[in-house]
Amino acid sequence: MTHKILFLIIVLAGMLSIIPQSCENNNELELYGIQGCDTVDITWDSKIEDILERNCVECHNKDLNYNGVRHDSYAEELILVNDGRLRGVINHKSGFAKMPKDRGMLPACELKQINTWLDNGAPEK
Ligand code: HEC
Repeated sequence: MTHKILFLIIVLAGMLSIIPQSCENNNELELYGIQGCDTVDITWDSKIEDILERNCVECHNKDLNYNGVRHDSYAEELILVNDGRLRGVINHKSGFAKMPKDRGMLPACELKQINTWLDNGAPEK
């Protein structure tokens, strides 16, 4: 009898110790975002040009530019920043083409970096 009660106490204690831990992890995610994702001082020069170069420029450059869209210069990018199309296409918002075309969404960190850059007014330097 006492063994059963002891066993129950141990099981309950184990369960209780798991619950607060999982809550803690959630909070950490909310506070710090994607682990290891640098979202400080994001500029065209520091991060964005490189992300678009790797994911978008092959279909959006001087010679090949679907829908007249180019991602190979800051000046060209500002057009898409200002008309809302960059935010629309990368976040797969309804009413926008989903980019990068047929490849699913950008990796979470790169998506977050572009959205942060847009929130901060899309600085060049
Ligand atoms: C494999 C080729 C390809 C890649 C890579 C690609 N696009 Fe596109 N993009 C297209 C095509 C094709 C269209 C024309 C619309 C359609 O067919 O969906 C387009 C259209 C667009 C448009 C115009 C949408 C509109 O409503 O006018 C934007 C903005 C855009 N792409 C941004 C991007 C961004 C940002 C990336 C990278 C994250 C990217 N594209 C990567 C092929 C590509």
